Formats: sequence, structure tokens, C-alpha cells
Amino acid sequence: MKVIEYIHEMKEASQALRAEGNKISFVPTMGYLHQGHLSLLKKGRDVGDLLVMSIFVNPAQFAKGEDFERYPRDFERDKKMCESESVDILFLPNAREIYPDGYQTYVEVEGVTKNLCGTSRPGHFRGVATVVTKLFNIVRPHYAIFGEKDFQQLVTIKRLALDLDMDVDVIGMPIVREADGLAMSSRNSYLGQEERAAAGSIYRAIQRSKEVFDEGERSAGILLNEARKVVEISPLIEPEYVKLVNMGTMEEVDRVENEALLAIAVRIGKTRLIDNIILRKA
Ligand code: PAJ
Repeated sequence: MKVIEYIHEMKEASQALRAEGNKISFVPTMGYLHQGHLSLLKKGRDVGDLLVMSIFVNPAQFAKGEDFERYPRDFERDKKMCESESVDILFLPNAREIYPDGYQTYVEVEGVTKNLCGTSRPGHFRGVATVVTKLFNIVRPHYAIFGEKDFQQLVTIKRLALDLDMDVDVIGMPIVREADGLAMSSRNSYLGQEERAAAGSIYRAIQRSKEVFDEGERSAGILLNEARKVVEISPLIEPEYVKLVNMGTMEEVDRVENEALLAIAVRIGKTRLIDNIILRKA
């Protein structure tokens, strides 16, 4: 595995690989890897000839007072995990490399970023869209693999690639979960023991909605209420939003016609966690 820290080197490598006819798969991450990230790498391996992963904790997508400084980092462990997943190139730029002095260009995706996390984290998706645009320009992947864990992010990147005529196939992958259903996340490492136990009810809540949906319920009010009742049992969990949205636009819906996304964000102590489930007619 080759570790590259500089943009010009990454560009040269990718250009050479492309010239030889290789299809490049790319998995952008912020590191502190877990099985969720690894599932994206496996997919990348399957669809392309060469696998590039990036680790960059992107300051532009964190607002003041969020967890940028304390975001978990463990490069040595991440590196070993990448090696065992046969990553070909690990791209590891630093913040100065990505945002040098004088940097002033940002990418804004409009409609799909307005609701959900866009409301609670102003500027977040602007930071994500900007860094992903830059990473796509540097790595020039044929395939880019993202997790449905961050469903709104996936929709945003698909929109971005389409709107800006990027020649990259954006692929979404299902959420990988812990044994109790908690969606894997680098941020789970913030949770204390009691908080971790409580966090299991996030999945139980969205599962409950799915159960009620599968029994025939279609009203957003009722489906959401069922989920809220489950998370509200735990005094440690403070819901930020529980919403039912159109899968393409991220706008709220009153009823589920064929499919909709139930999305949830909660706070447990200082930790903010998100999850979602697709409600779709069988
Ligand atoms: P990060 O949170 O490290 O996630 C990197 C990728 O892993 C994202 O596509 C995310 O959706 C996916 N992922 C995380 N947890 C997952 C899980 N449990 N199951 C499946 N996939 C999962 O998302 C980011 O980084 C950043 O915003 C980034 C896109 C790298 C831009 O900075």
C-alpha cells in the first residue's frame, strides 16, 4: 500500500493509473475506521481495479463548538486496517494541503441540504460538498462509494456529481450495525458505558416504525410517533429530529406512498448520532 500526502503526487498516481486503463474506486473517510468503512472498501474492490481511500478530518464541515478537535484519530490502526483490506493508495493530506492560505472557493448544493442535518448543522454540507469536489478532482475516481448511514450526504454527493457533470459513479451502501443494531460510527467511541447501552434504542425506535409500516400504517404522524415513543423511554437520549422524508428530495412527507426515509438525529450527552431506515412497500 502506498501512502500519499501531497495533492500533486496523488494526481500523478491517478493519472498514470488511468492512462493504463485502470478503473479507480475511491472511498473518502475521516478515519477511525470501523466495519462500516470496510464494507465500502470491499465494494470498491469489487467494482474497480484500484482502490484509493482518503483519510482527512475536514475542518470545513465542522461548525464552531462541534467536535473537530476531539474527533477520534488513530492513524496506525487505520493504516493496518487499510492494508488488510488491500487498499492500493491511502491518501492522507493535511489541512494546509487542502485549504492553503488564501483558499476561498466553496461548493453549495441547495435543495437536498436544506432539511434534516442541514437545519441543525448550518454550513456542514457546504464543507462536505467542497472537500468531496476537491477529492474527486485530485483522485479522479471512476467509482466513489458512500454509506447510507449518512443518507443525506449520499444524496447530496449524487446531486453534486450530476449537477457539476463529474464523470464519477456514486454508489451507496447499506448501513453496517453493531449487534444491538446501533449504526457503526467513529463517534460511538465518545459514548460512556451507560450512554452506549442507551444508544441501542435509536435502532429499536426506527425498527418500531418499520414494523408498524409493514403492518400497513402509512401516516407520517403515526409512524414518527411510534419511533419517538421508543427513544423517549431513555432519559439519556435527547431527540434532535425524527422525520419522514422523500428519498430523493429530503423534503418531509405526510404519508408514505411507495417509499420514504425515516431519519433520526439524537444527542446522548455531548455525542450527536444519526441513523435512518428506508420504509418501502414489500
Ligand atoms: P466518515 O464519517 O468517516 O464516513 C466515511 C464514509 O463511511 C461515509 O460514506 C459514511 O456514510 C460511511 N459510513 C460511516 N458509518 C457507516 C456505517 N455504519 N455503515 C455504512 N457506511 C458507513 O462521511 C464522512 O466521513 C465525511 O463527511 C466525508 C464524506 C469523508 C467528507 O469529509
